[in-house]
Amino acid sequence: MENIFCIKDKVILITGGYGVLGKSISKYLANQGAIVIILGRNKSKGEALVKEINDSGDKAYFLESDVMNEKKLIQNREQIVKEHGKIDVLINAAGGNMPGATISPENNIFDLQLKDFKSVVDLNLFGTALPTSVFLEAMLESGGGNIINFSSMSALRPLTRVVGYGAAKAAVLNYTKYMAGELAIKFGEKFRINALAPGFFLTEQNRSLLTSTDGSYTDRGKTIIAHTPFKRFGKPEELHGAVHYLASDASKFVTGTVLVVDGGFDSFSI
Ligand SMILES: NC(=O)c1ccc[n+]([C@@H]2O[C@H](COP(=O)([O-])OP(=O)(O)OC[C@H]3O[C@@H](n4cnc5c(N)ncnc54)[C@H](O)[C@@H]3O)[C@@H](O)[C@H]2O)c1
Repeated sequence: MENIFCIKDKVILITGGYGVLGKSISKYLANQGAIVIILGRNKSKGEALVKEINDSGDKAYFLESDVMNEKKLIQNREQIVKEHGKIDVLINAAGGNMPGATISPENNIFDLQLKDFKSVVDLNLFGTALPTSVFLEAMLESGGGNIINFSSMSALRPLTRVVGYGAAKAAVLNYTKYMAGELAIKFGEKFRINALAPGFFLTEQNRSLLTSTDGSYTDRGKTIIAHTPFKRFGKPEELHGAVHYLASDASKFVTGTVLVVDGGFDSFSI
């Protein structure tokens, strides 16, 4: 019987591919037989990850890129098509937050730095929409394509503090749903786009916000755990199954969906 989860030899691009979640996903997908192309701004980080993946016998490549730079993305597209012939999957994992786009408990909305708010929307929304448009052109050439975006729990359940990030990730969700219809109607069912909404995963960006130096939870960390039925944060490897499903033909009738991976946070009240 056909293995509907097979992703062997699929050409999978991942922006932010050496970030905390991206790195774990890149290694996993390469280990499943995909040809993983990691796009990022830092050559040494990207090449170190590629070496680690290649040393374990799997296939990965690094290309210097910037999700905000159209010219660079077009160069990336041309190089990938020349070397690999096609792009099967694009994972838009680049994203993040900035302190000025947040409001701490002792501050209020007037302390918000609108410039930083805009930068966070630029990175998360346009840093998703721009690579999508650029790489979609190659997908159209080869007759199919599959896009996986990174939204967040902050899009579904507005969280205190992270006003800019929450708004940006909510926009990523709406964009994903809009694009699902747009792609299928204009180009057919071989073009899919979905989003992941991870809950709380401990990463370098949020570690000091969620844990103290001795490893215990901060007040915010405790509040999150109290609202998570699984009573813990996620581990990066717990996103592998969701990404694999969306990247494979197992989800071939699925588009415009938001796959929540959160230990129950979204469905739980009291
Ligand atoms: N960690 C969590 O709990 C969590 C929860 C929900 C969603 N997310 C989302 O998951 C994705 C991965 O997050 P992470 O936790 O691994 O964070 P991370 O900071 O480790 O990774 C993000 C990566 O994006 C890269 N990046 C930033 N700007 C870029 C640009 N202009 N061009 C190219 N790359 C750029 C960074 O260099 C970094 O490698 C992000 O979109 C994040 O918002 C994370």
